Amino acid sequence: MITLRRGDRLTIASTGTADVLLTGEGHEPVALPDADGSVAALLRALDRPLTWQQVRDELTLDAARCDALARRLVTSGVLTLGCADEHGEVATARVHSRLAALRLDGDLAVGEPVQLSPYALLRRSGERAVVESARDCTVVELHRPALAAVVAGLCAPTTPEAAGGLAPGGLELVRLLAAVGLAGPPGPETGPAPHAAWAHIRSRAGLVDARGVPVRSLDEPPPAPAADTDIPLPAPDLAALRRTDPPLAEVMETRRSVRRFGRAPLTVAQLGELLYRTARIQRRFTPDLADQRSYAHTLRPVPSAGAMHELDYYVAVRACRDLTPGIYRYLPDRHALALVNRDTVPLVRLVNAAYLAINRESVPPVLISLAARFGRNSGKYGDLAYSLTLRNAGVVLQSVYLCATAMGLGACAVGTGDAADFAEATGLDPAEVSAVGEIVIGSLPGEGE
Ligand SMILES: Cc1cc2nc3c(=O)[nH]c(=O)nc-3n(C[C@H](O)[C@H](O)[C@H](O)COP(=O)(O)O)c2cc1C
Repeated sequence: MITLRRGDRLTIASTGTADVLLTGEGHEPVALPDADGSVAALLRALDRPLTWQQVRDELTLDAARCDALARRLVTSGVLTLGCADEHGEVATARVHSRLAALRLDGDLAVGEPVQLSPYALLRRSGERAVVESARDCTVVELHRPALAAVVAGLCAPTTPEAAGGLAPGGLELVRLLAAVGLAGPPGPETGPAPHAAWAHIRSRAGLVDARGVPVRSLDEPPPAPAADTDIPLPAPDLAALRRTDPPLAEVMETRRSVRRFGRAPLTVAQLGELLYRTARIQRRFTPDLADQRSYAHTLRPVPSAGAMHELDYYVAVRACRDLTPGIYRYLPDRHALALVNRDTVPLVRLVNAAYLAINRESVPPVLISLAARFGRNSGKYGDLAYSLTLRNAGVVLQSVYLCATAMGLGACAVGTGDAADFAEATGLDPAEVSAVGEIVIGSLPGEGE
């Protein structure tokens, strides 16, 4: 029997804008109108677990209003769903999205086939096994390890009784999985790949519990100490550029992906100008100690979610006048390059992969890899951080495209960057820092080339 439950620590208050404000563990505060007192009445009734039908019987509301209210409270995480047998708790489900496919009062027909959803993910959470939906992040916590066999037993079409018989409490678990859309009648498998669906929903508020993880330090790391090997880059004359740059309309209309580069070598002045105009730090902000939400951050020519600027620019230089080939990191404070690796093998591997990606038209003179420091924005954005990083990378790619176009250079984004090549070339731990976007740069072909 599936029951609705409320958390022990749920508090109910009223506010200026809502009749009830519900705060508790595992969910964001939920504000609701409650002119007729039905929310308060439902929560009072739930001082013990109740079935869906019992909730309807307890409240003097019409069934549709009662269902809508309970569904609202379940899908906002205020209420959880649970099931138990004579030995105690079997499983608990917490729903995080109002788009979740709930069948709260439906029951499984005896003997009818049932199968696990392809979007059900069995994983460890803390010390418990959970079944999570890659569609809406609903999480079913298994209170007994043996119940994992029931989940595995549902992979092939079977009956609820057969799968449920694999462990004590199994039938209750099958019912709960069906109630939250993690099991159902077998059918054709359509829709996006589960990992793509999971990545998508874990990056969107409304489909996941999107509150940030407990904040570690959000502060921008201090500038790297200067090293003798750092190479200062020439900075452009911005006042002159304001006069001589082509108009934005011209740049936007003429920008194209360039895969064939000219014989004229890229110069270090051009590389310096491109990096200065897209990546340097324009302003640093120190945290305001009186404001807990404030953190050290920087402003640069490109926007970045939360001004986190978690992307570092790694520049693989194959051919650039006055710059020794090698892999460098751009230092946005000092507008300089720090040598990362001068070995030819990793450099050739990175450049060659980009050459293959741009249809083998030219070996790119320079490849810029955007590497994300994942810890930087995950402390603020939690589950949303990775998708914001990819958007930040897209913003940078377009800025580099536009700047290259304005400068009369060629650029082409590379969609197939190899994270293993990047990790080997830089020695960085890919779990901490990894390339998430690449773009190649070179001169435009001259007349007759
Ligand atoms: C994220 C991204 C990845 C890309 N990856 C590649 C690539 O791997 N190889 C390539 O030749 N072009 C790549 N391109 C360039 C696109 O093919 C190009 O933008 C598209 O064909 C439209 O042409 P245009 O940029 O000249 O307007 C990429 C573009 C973007 C935005």
